[in-house]
Parts: sequence; structure tokens; C-alpha cells
Amino acid sequence: MITYDKNNKIFNLTNNEMSYIFCILKNGKLGNLYYGDAIGENLKIDQMIHFEKTSLTVNYFKNDDKFSMQNIKQEFPEYGRGDYREPAIMLTRENGSHLTDLFYKDHTIYKGKKSLEGLPSTRGEKICETLVVELYDDIIDLTVKLYYTIYKNINAITRHVEVMNGEKESVKINRLLSASIDFFDSDYQWLQFSGDWSRERHLIEKKLSEGITSVGSIKGTSSAEHNPFIILKREKTDEFKGEAYGFSFIYSGNFLAQGEVDSRKTLRMMMGINPFQFNWKLDKKESFVSPEVVLTYSNKGLNNLSHQLHDLYNKDLVQKKWMTQKRPVLINNWEATYFDFDENRILSIAKEAQQVGIDLFVLDDGWFGARNDDTKGLGDWIVNKEKLPNGIQGLSKKINDLGMKFGLWFEPEMVNEASNLFKEHPDYIISDPQRNSSVGRNQLVLDFSRKEVVDEIYRMMENTLKNSTVEYIKWDMNRFISEPFGKDLGLEHKGEFFHRYILGLYSLLEKINENFPHIMIESCASGGNRFDPGLLYYAPQAWTSDNTDAVSRLFIQYGTSYGYPISSIGSHVSEVPNHQVGRLTPLKTRTDVALFGTFGYELDIGKLSNEEKSQIEEDIKFFKGNQELIQKGRFYRLISPFKTNNETAWICVSNNKEEALVGFYRIRNAASNPLKKIILTGLNPEYNYSVNGKEYSGRILMKFGILLTDFYGENKVTGDYYSKLFVVKKI
Ligand code: GLA
Repeated sequence: MITYDKNNKIFNLTNNEMSYIFCILKNGKLGNLYYGDAIGENLKIDQMIHFEKTSLTVNYFKNDDKFSMQNIKQEFPEYGRGDYREPAIMLTRENGSHLTDLFYKDHTIYKGKKSLEGLPSTRGEKICETLVVELYDDIIDLTVKLYYTIYKNINAITRHVEVMNGEKESVKINRLLSASIDFFDSDYQWLQFSGDWSRERHLIEKKLSEGITSVGSIKGTSSAEHNPFIILKREKTDEFKGEAYGFSFIYSGNFLAQGEVDSRKTLRMMMGINPFQFNWKLDKKESFVSPEVVLTYSNKGLNNLSHQLHDLYNKDLVQKKWMTQKRPVLINNWEATYFDFDENRILSIAKEAQQVGIDLFVLDDGWFGARNDDTKGLGDWIVNKEKLPNGIQGLSKKINDLGMKFGLWFEPEMVNEASNLFKEHPDYIISDPQRNSSVGRNQLVLDFSRKEVVDEIYRMMENTLKNSTVEYIKWDMNRFISEPFGKDLGLEHKGEFFHRYILGLYSLLEKINENFPHIMIESCASGGNRFDPGLLYYAPQAWTSDNTDAVSRLFIQYGTSYGYPISSIGSHVSEVPNHQVGRLTPLKTRTDVALFGTFGYELDIGKLSNEEKSQIEEDIKFFKGNQELIQKGRFYRLISPFKTNNETAWICVSNNKEEALVGFYRIRNAASNPLKKIILTGLNPEYNYSVNGKEYSGRILMKFGILLTDFYGENKVTGDYYSKLFVVKKI
């Protein structure tokens, strides 16, 4: 998959469908030649790079007025050598200079892939090959290694960078993007996934033009506002056809995704740790490893682009165990009780849940310390015996005796001022001791850049976990970082704070995973405020949004599916009127939306009518009967709520194409609606299928589609918030 053409000095990373090609330029730096459809071998540098004399540029060589770094498509751009676009790397040397001159020194190619120490990364268990290109600056004695891994059967390349300092001087890394690519032109639409609390990952599309287009975070988490995932697509590319590029960052902290279009309309795309407030000191002989960026490519539209990420994350990022294991159908007590519960109340909810077939009970916030509202108790991970006299040990055992597994909520990174932890260790919080600390949801953030803080939290968590039968953790995080200041870090190291915080978080997640391998973690951050591939490495599913309203979820889940497999999308049925938006939707619609994710409930089933209870029992049977298809099948987006603002459709197709499940949703009904059909995809045109009992050929389903009117039934007045499932089975 990876070759080096010695004569032409060209690196060629090609799998069956795509090529990523770069070269060593005549000044010893790397030039990007091509990224797109597979184009084979026998390439020449001057066929693919403009070398031309232009007026305003400065030239690298005195005797060559056609060689300017500004005009050349680069692979790892540096600062200050005549390229005025933003660089991938910038350092400060002891003498204050920001200049580097990194030249190709060597490279190695090997099968498979190594993991990144202390950081989440794809595991390299699928067939892949790695190229490491070594660059060297002899004035500083600095080595930079660029890592590329290409997958054989997934159109994905992962990239990261390692900076290794030599023996001459210390340096400060001011800026280090994990991937940078110069595209030949900038004729792309930029797709970002942005929002807010309870409105996460809404698709926003804009055309690139001169200047910088970027999204990022400086909040200490990847955030609900912007996701570390970007798509570039050609104007005519849609879900089913056309070229698209994905950029995804396996990281949970401050990030930057940026596209810079210059005056010649070329595009420089880059992604990595946000350079804002990042300043990492490397003493002599020290090194720094950047987190991993995933590049994905499709020439068959956006669904296909998403499939590359779904495959990569399902098969090579999440923990091996959870790749195949069926996820439990769960019930969570948060919306049913909030903080107001005791053991009896919890057991009564659990009993009802068990009777309808739910596998796992999750006890949410409020079980510990003095936590009767959100002003107290965070940080005291010791059971509140007034509420739960038999402890977590006793409660988990009772839940197990009902025939259910038990799960527990933690918010390990936080503390309330009203807590024992804060009383004993007021210095554990992130703060500037000379200033007031801002609060968010009445809480403060613990300084996870300090090992002793992480260790203390682990100690408390371990105590609870080892003395009970917890098999699932909901790992929450409910505020951003403010007053960022690494109190413990030396003056020279203050700029390392945000990254060290994330490293501390990852170390705790790693330790819990290692020491409690039977526990599955579901990540959460006020819903989807930290839904990123970094967390996915430790926690195979995430609470997608605090918004459980079925209509809102159509947008949130549709948007999330662009970058994440639906096996990671936590989706629950909750009660109506909905707690976040007050909407009344039918149980059927709420169920039909939640089915396309890691299915569960967030209500007290005991409060429902017998008819609703029986319906839920049927729904859970239906989900379990289709779980393999939903968890491991191919998910395609069919009709976008972002386009129609009224209708949505999606389909999950089994890998052998013998079964599929289609969801259709209509938000508002109208009289005399336009005629409607849904064209399916992903099936086998040669097969015959039954769709809710009616016979079709695969070809008809995929070319003509199914007429919706056929399925409305006797009473065609469907009302608002309508949903319909189509069960497709090979005959
Ligand atoms: C966050 C989560 C909710 C719930 C509460 C508990 O908001 O997103 O699901 O766990 O915290 O305080």
C-alpha cells in the first residue's frame, strides 16, 4: 500500500480506492502532490506542482525565481520561509527565533500501526501500513517524525506528528497541527457540525472562499458548539454520489480545524490541538506526540464517507470487547426522579423495567455525598446512606437479583464547594489563587493536569466499583474550564495546562478500563458536549444529547451520524410532555427515533398505562430482534431534516443485505401533501424483498422506491410527529 519511488522521490499511499501522494522537493522539504481517487504509479513531481515566477513572492533559492514556498503545495508547512499561510509547526528557540528548517532525513515503512502512548488512537488491528518520515533541523538538533497509516479496506489515513528534541537547546512548541494538506483548488463546500446544549451537531454548510474558515474549541473540551469533525465536498456531491473528504480528530480538548484559501485559490486544510494558549516546553532530549487525525475519502457521496468512519471506529477504535458485544437496553432514572429518590423508589422503577425486558438499570446523579440538588456533594464519591441505606453494594445486588445489570453515574472531573473533597483539598481545583473562581452549574473543575488529583479520584471510584457489581459507568462532565492556570506547573510550562488536563483525564479512563474490564463506560457531558473520537476510544457509546425530544433528536442523531457510528449514539425514550422542549409526541415516534442508536429508556415505566407497558415490551422485543442489524449493519441517511425541515428518513441494512430497517418521520402534517415515496439504498438489486408484508424487487426499492401512501392504512390522517418503520426482509 505504501511505496517510495527513489528516482522521483515520491511517497505513494494507495489502497484500492484512494491515493495520497507527496514528495521530497528540491530544497529537501515535503510537497503535497495529490489526495483523491487512486491514480497508481509513475508520477513525476513537475507534473503535479506549479513552479512559476510570480511577482509578490519571495524565493527560497537565490538562483531560482520559480521556487517559492508560497506557491508550492506543502505537506508540513513551517513558519517564516516565504510561505505566508499559517504553518503546521512553529517553535520558539532559546534565542527567541521562531524559524525552523526541517529537511527530509529518512523514512521507514512497516506493516500495522503502533499506538500513541497516553493518547487514544486507532488500534491498527485491521490491515494497514505505516510510513514514518523523519525530518531534521541540524541548527536546532530537532527531529520531527510524520506518521501516516493507510488502511487497506477502509478509505482512511491516520496522521500524527512526533517532535523530538536533541542535545543542543530547549525549545517551546507554540503550534503543532497533527495534519496539514494543501489541496490544489478550493472549490469545496465546508460542512461543520455545530450547535449548543441540547442542539448538538447540526449540519452547517458553507462555501469556502479567500481567507480562513475555521471551527475549534478553547473551552477545555471538544464541546457541543463545534465538533472536531469537518467534511469538504464538491458542490454536486450528495449523500449518494460525488467526492468528499473527512477530517476527524481523536482528541477531547481544545482543537482547531481550519481551511485557508489563498490568493491563487489553493486550500490549506489543517487539524490539531488549538494553538491558542498552547505552549509546550521541550527540554533537551524530550519529545512530544500530537494526537491523531483521521482523514477519510469517498468518491461515492457522503453516506460512503460516513461508512469509512463508522467502520474505522467500530472496528479499530473502540475497545475490542465492545466491537462485537451486544449493548444492553438500559433504563436511566434521571428524568424519572432527578435527585429525589431512595432505594425503594429505585427498586420500583427497576422492577417495572425488568418486566418489560430492560437489561440494565443506571442510577444517575444524586447517590453520593450530600447530593440532594446540584449545589452539593460533587467530589464525594461515597454513597449517601440516607437515600441508599444498603450502599451501592446492597443496591447493585438487589438489582442483579431482579435479573438486571447495574450501572452508576460519576462526574469524576468536578467538585462542589460544598463537599468534603473541597474542604480537605481546596487547592485541587483549577484556579488562579489571586482571583475568584467562576462556577458553572454550581461546580468547579478539578485540576486533572495534576497526578495526585487524578489518583485521589481514582481511589474513591475504585472503592465503590470494587465493592459492588457495577457493570456500566455513565461518565459525565458538566461545565467548561475557566480561570485556566496550571498552579503546579513551572512558569515555563504554563502553556501545557490544557493538554495536560486531557492527558490526566485519559489516564483515569485508561486505568478504569484496565482494572475493571467488565465495565462499559458511556461518556456524557451535559449530553453531547464532548462527543468525540477521543472519548470513543475509552467509552464505546456516548449520551448524544440531554434533549430527548423525538423531533429534536431527528436533527441531532442525523447530524451525529455523519461522523460517528450509530452504535455510539445513546438514544432513549422519555416521557411527555418532553422535559427539554415541552413537546407531546406519540410513544411510537419516540421509540422509532430511539431505536436507531443504543436503545434505552429515561422514564418511570410504572407511571404508564398497561397498554403503554405492553407496547414497550413489544418494542424492546422488536429492538432485540433487530439489534445485530442496528448495531453492526450499514446506516444510510436517506432524507435530510436539515434540507426539508419536516421529513427525515434513514435505513440500516444488514451486511449480507438480507434485512433492513427503514425509519420515516414527518414532523408536521398538512392536507393534500405532495406525493411521497422513499427510495431505499444499500440493498441487493437481484434479491426480492418483503416490505411490511408487501413484495418488491430490490431494484424497484432502490430505483423507484416505496410509496408512502400504501402504508398509511385505513385512516390516512396521520397527525403531526408521525413515524413509520419499514421492515425489509429478503424473500
Ligand atoms: C447531565 C447529564 C444528564 C444527567 C445530569 C445529572 O446534565 O447530561 O443526563 O446525568 O447531568 O446531573
